[in-house]
Amino acid sequence: MAKTKRRYSCQACGSVSHRWQGQCPDCAEWNTLVEDAPATVFSMKHNLSDGGKLVEFAPLNRADELPQRKATGIDEFDRALGGGLVPGSAILMGGDPGIGKSTLLLQVAARIARSGAEAVYVSGEEAAGQVRMRASRLGLADAPIKLASATSARDILTTLNGMAPPALLVIDSIQTMHSDQIEGAPGTVSQVRGCAFELIRYAKENGVALVLVGHVTKDGTIAGPRVLEHMVDVVMSFEGERSHQYRILRALKNRFGAVDEIGVFAMAGQGLEEVRNPSTLFLSGSDEPLAGSAVFPALEGTRPVLVEVQALIVRLQSGATPRRAVVGWDSSRLAMLLAVLEARCGLSFSSAEVYLNISGGYRLSDPAADIAVAAALVSALADKPLASRSVWFGEISLAGEVRPVAHGGLRLREAGKLGFKHGFGPGESARADRQSR
Ligand code: TYD
Ligand code: MG
Repeated sequence: MAKTKRRYSCQACGSVSHRWQGQCPDCAEWNTLVEDAPATVFSMKHNLSDGGKLVEFAPLNRADELPQRKATGIDEFDRALGGGLVPGSAILMGGDPGIGKSTLLLQVAARIARSGAEAVYVSGEEAAGQVRMRASRLGLADAPIKLASATSARDILTTLNGMAPPALLVIDSIQTMHSDQIEGAPGTVSQVRGCAFELIRYAKENGVALVLVGHVTKDGTIAGPRVLEHMVDVVMSFEGERSHQYRILRALKNRFGAVDEIGVFAMAGQGLEEVRNPSTLFLSGSDEPLAGSAVFPALEGTRPVLVEVQALIVRLQSGATPRRAVVGWDSSRLAMLLAVLEARCGLSFSSAEVYLNISGGYRLSDPAADIAVAAALVSALADKPLASRSVWFGEISLAGEVRPVAHGGLRLREAGKLGFKHGFGPGESARADRQSR
């Protein structure tokens, strides 16, 4: 027997409550609970006469059942995905507005279409004419993509069900989709979740590689329900500073591959170009050593990337609260490092403004960058450049110790190849790396 219950879902995080509250108990946002379509609860009876069907069990080891990955030919895109598109899978791609999601996906769709497979691109944000204009700017006007401008998930699925399934289906964006069979205005949690569910089901049943573009909120998470991330197989993030040319495509979750490889692109007049050797891309290019600048040997999957960390310290005369501003690094990690430098090394930053920037619009999350940041801060404080052609890496603990990090030896070797003469890092890591090989 089916029972129905009232339920309220938070429009910010998607969590469900059974009574209305002013503040969401999960994400603490105010006035975000909205009554949702009631959930239907079936009481379970385990017998076939109730309409249940038998599930077919099959052995795990059936090579003929393995889906074949399809490389798109855009190597940086394939690399970030772990080798290409998997038929019957769903990818959610997030990124700031204007970063280039639509541009990249149009380029991917064009490659697929030109290889002779079917690619469908549905834009819910732009009119077909606008997409055509972009395509002609990108030199893709003649690519046999099937293009539509639509926002009704039901119409889109009705159309798709009446034709041969395409190899690639792009929905740009999932937040613009709506269905008249689901309650709520377009963009609400239940609409986004419901439309995504139907599109993903279509993709899985028909062996279609589905890409859903997702808006991101101010703090960088994909807007709408968190459940969207659970529903898809791959979550990609397209990052970069809009004012810089470089863009990084990164997998945050990948059911079919590793999440440590990145794809690097440069936004040019003719769309996104692949950057095949990104190792020195994020250096500022000045050969003269400058105070407040340190080079960090980052590793992105198997590829080394040298990144410049820049710090600026401004002494304040008055007793005003000093500012700390960070671009490309975690601001709470900076606060922690400043505290460690104060408490363990006797340096004083308390009456100074601290600015930290990772050059080239790169975003650092590796804890091994601690030493590079500390070196840049100390160099800026002392107003003395660090040793020329040097790289810095290592994690700093709250006790002020330098801790070993992964692949120390590899970082040093790669920096050496690029002409860096000195490496400063924890002794352990180089040794551990050598032993592990
Ligand atoms: P777009 O793909 O519309 O971003 P998103 O879908 O993530 O919102 O990218 C738009 C930006 O890219 C816009 O600011 C202009 C820039 N751009 C170029 O620099 N060159 C190009 O060839 C194209 C098509 C866009
Ligand atoms: Mg777009």
